[in-house]
Amino acid sequence: MEKFIIKGGNPLEGKITISGSKNSALPILAATLLTPEECVIHRVPNLSDIRYMLEILKFLGAQVDYENGTVRIKCKNVHSTAPYDLVRKMRASICILGPLIARCGQARVSLPGGCVIGDRPIDLHITGLQKLGADIEIIKGDVVAHGGILRGTSIHLKGKYGSTVLGTDNVMMAACQAEGTTIIEGAACEPEVEDLAHFLCSMGAKISGMGTQQLIIEGVKELHGCEYTIITDRIEAGTFAVAAAMTKGNLFLEHAPVEHMGSVLEKLKDCGASIEIENQGIRVSRSGPLRAFEIVTAAYPGFPTDMQAQFCAMATVAEGTSKIVENIFPNRFMHISELKRLGAMIELSQNQALIHGIERLSGAPVMASDLRASAALVLAGLVAENTTEVHRVYHIDRGYEKIDEKLSSVGANITRVYSKI
Ligand code: EPU
Repeated sequence: MEKFIIKGGNPLEGKITISGSKNSALPILAATLLTPEECVIHRVPNLSDIRYMLEILKFLGAQVDYENGTVRIKCKNVHSTAPYDLVRKMRASICILGPLIARCGQARVSLPGGCVIGDRPIDLHITGLQKLGADIEIIKGDVVAHGGILRGTSIHLKGKYGSTVLGTDNVMMAACQAEGTTIIEGAACEPEVEDLAHFLCSMGAKISGMGTQQLIIEGVKELHGCEYTIITDRIEAGTFAVAAAMTKGNLFLEHAPVEHMGSVLEKLKDCGASIEIENQGIRVSRSGPLRAFEIVTAAYPGFPTDMQAQFCAMATVAEGTSKIVENIFPNRFMHISELKRLGAMIELSQNQALIHGIERLSGAPVMASDLRASAALVLAGLVAENTTEVHRVYHIDRGYEKIDEKLSSVGANITRVYSKI
């Protein structure tokens, strides 16, 4: 195991280059199962989640070469069973289900199991794929599907908590080669879903309505190989933007996808940060006080749940009381008890947190529990007095490429060391 040792107090100044989007790359890699031809995908971030996905694809028969951010992948022969040992490590592995059904006419994919951010059902994925004609049962913890001939139809994909990102991805991928036209209503509009749709179109799919709640997919006979560059990661960029605001720094975030960051940048401005859109990215700085704020997480273009923990860390040192309402994953508050170990004053009631800002956090050992919670703890460590130790940083390595190196390069005092716990 590894931990970060962070000595807080340095303002971050300089340039950070934003990596490719994890949540685009994962389903895009899964989509390569749809063709026997080679796909070349650029700007793939070097993250443990990406390496898990490549392991799964290799197990299913893919030839993979991954160097300098470019994946060359050829799924000439594919078999259709992904066992528990492989998929349990990452919930996003469920997005191989749609492509496998489309390519092999059948699939057996283990259910990924529990998740620390709360219940992560896949009922909408299943009903969507069933509507296309797949026969699906859960047998001994596996999703077992028989595709037969998939036929286009009208599918509504909204559930109790709104649209589903990976559910939309799964149904869209399966529909690309279904007979006739599929209309997905209530589709997720996240930029990562749109990126997957662009990738599928580069493979020869016919999709319209990208980035809207209605996707229209005209089935084609086959998909072919292609070359594609993934969008940059709006959540990584947002996390560094919060770091600049919290530390009273001045960071240029090269290649930050400003067009996808509207709600986060607006909220940062409300908090007192200054945002300048420049030619190749954005500059985030702060000179005045950090002000309290209110956020309510929502589907895109609303405020992303994947930025909630980071804003919670920022609220701990903002002037006044901030309020956070988490509407996508109501239990996604694992970071709160750890932030309290640093002195944060937070009241949690159901899916709402009230955060009373204090002048300074004080360093302590804390435990990372999931990806974005770990990011919040690192941010808190950057402004805490003395030393903060963030344990179990493998959680953060799932979704942030070399975060310690990127932060050190702009003045943070952060080191990665071996840890027994
Ligand atoms: N939901 C259902 N039924 C389903 C699927 C989802 O009720 O069949 C509910 C969920 O319980 C949740 C809401 O719908 O309340 C949204 O979940 P969604 O399916 O959109 O989440 P996901 O596709 O599994 C992706 C991201 C998450 C991100 C969410 C929400 C990837 C690989 N993961 O998950 O990213 O939080 O969308 O935007 O794209 C992260 O990067 O840290 C992360 C967790």
